[in-house]
Amino acid sequence: MSTHFVKLTQPTLKLVDIFNRWENDPDLIPLTRRNSNQSELGSRQIVTLKNLTQRLKHRYLYLIYDDNHLIGEMNYMIDPKHLYKKEPETAWIGITIGDSKGRGRGIGYEGLQYLEAKIKESGLKRIELGVFEFNIAGQKLYQKLDYKEIGRIKDFTYYQNKMWSDIRMEKYL
Ligand SMILES: CC(C)(COP(=O)(O)OP(=O)(O)OC[C@H]1O[C@@H](n2cnc3c(N)ncnc32)[C@H](O)[C@@H]1OP(=O)(O)O)[C@@H](O)C(=O)NCCC(=O)NCCS
Repeated sequence: MSTHFVKLTQPTLKLVDIFNRWENDPDLIPLTRRNSNQSELGSRQIVTLKNLTQRLKHRYLYLIYDDNHLIGEMNYMIDPKHLYKKEPETAWIGITIGDSKGRGRGIGYEGLQYLEAKIKESGLKRIELGVFEFNIAGQKLYQKLDYKEIGRIKDFTYYQNKMWSDIRMEKYL
């Protein structure tokens, strides 16, 4: 079994279908999307070829393959407005292993090390990320990679009848 990562430059309709599946998976919506109430948690978000292509204008996106099977994606943006610590030359990262069979096998750990190397290569000095306080698997992964908590944004997202904080973490490269 081998894991590899491929930079996305030209989205295809097949990829659009896969992103639609992941981004509308009821198990993933609470973890990957900010929701303000129950109806948002149940709402569909339509990915099109146009908006996936648009995303790549301000995001560097890498596809995660387990052998030849696409199981997830990870990405970074540079200095987005929503940074907790507005330090220039920061990469804001995100990762989703969309295929449940790909989770819990060390692929997120390996993938983020690859993404960090790409970010460093591009000359950026700092990484920031947000993880919801109920996402224990996410927090453990980031702690294992030495990300440090820098703050919590209260009442950030809705899940299981209440609002939860967004935990912001950083790492200097
Ligand atoms: C969170 C996510 C990226 C982690 O990637 P992964 O490949 O599953 O994690 P790994 O197998 O590399 O595990 C790394 C560490 O994370 C922790 N971890 C992973 N899965 C876990 C789980 N289900 N429960 C608790 N801890 C978990 C462990 O500490 C693990 O280290 P260990 O194996 O030495 O114990 C992945 O599970 C995922 O995409 N989840 C759904 C979407 C999501 O939550 N994205 C992140 C939003 S901030």
